[in-house]
Amino acid sequence: MSEHINKAGDLGQIREHLLYLKELGVGLVTAPDDLNADRPAVDRPGTKNELTQVNADLIATTVKIPPPDAASTIDKRSSAISRLRSLPRLSKRTDPAVMGTGAAPDEMIKKTGLTGDRSTIEAIEAIRNEIGQECSRCSLCSLGRSQVVNSVGNTNARLMFVGEAPGADEDRIGEPFVGRAGQLLTDIIEKGLEIPREQVFIGNINRCRPPGNRAPEPDEAAACKPFLLREIETVKPKVIVVLGATAAHNLLDVKTPISKMRGQFHDYMGVKVMPTFHPAYLLRDPNKKREVWEDIKLVRALLNELAE
Ligand code: URA
Repeated sequence: MSEHINKAGDLGQIREHLLYLKELGVGLVTAPDDLNADRPAVDRPGTKNELTQVNADLIATTVKIPPPDAASTIDKRSSAISRLRSLPRLSKRTDPAVMGTGAAPDEMIKKTGLTGDRSTIEAIEAIRNEIGQECSRCSLCSLGRSQVVNSVGNTNARLMFVGEAPGADEDRIGEPFVGRAGQLLTDIIEKGLEIPREQVFIGNINRCRPPGNRAPEPDEAAACKPFLLREIETVKPKVIVVLGATAAHNLLDVKTPISKMRGQFHDYMGVKVMPTFHPAYLLRDPNKKREVWEDIKLVRALLNELAE
């Protein structure tokens, strides 16, 4: 009976995973041998069995997950982490009011669209108010923006996402990542990381839409970025995923191509930062989803490690 239940649970999880991989465009997947070692051969994906049958409707092809190179990943990560330890860090949360102890009243959550404890919501609200809806700190205010698009999510999030600037949908709705790229980001968060989107914090380097979705100019980014940095200082995420070259270059103050930055953690004031390809780029080149999936697996592993 319990074996039966476990098998049903396994099947559900594997089905969910295959669906996600399929969405990410990963064509061929079989579980690595070490994942299969404790399973009877009949249950192993990739063999002609009940499971393969169940998944036949999900994937037209046989699927292959490359086995993780655990040793080299850990080596790479520990040397990167010890290097990161010597860099400047965000201040620790010492004020008990900022430790998540003061629950935010429902009206505050409803009014701001933010979740978290009272004092961090208030701090993010103060930043929003300082920016104002009529912000004119850079030229984007007169280049066709409809509104300032502020960061959203959980102000005590362990994980934060940073994009470039709002697109047409975000400009219309007033929230970051709500268009097609945003839907893909939601899948990455909810299916890849298995975290509800509302539990992470999501912002952009620039809060106003650049005309024709061009990248923000350096002076535009410089005018807006300080507010995002203050939000990072308030939320104190454990990990930041930075989406695309423009956001990565602006947050980390480097010019390295994104393809060279991704796949390893960088440092922003003691916070681990994983640069990866922007979801809008994945919509144009779905082959790059495999690399994003690799980056997301590193983020997931680090979040688990930091939770232990
Ligand atoms: N692209 C971004 O970088 N940010 C958004 O909010 C939407 C699309």
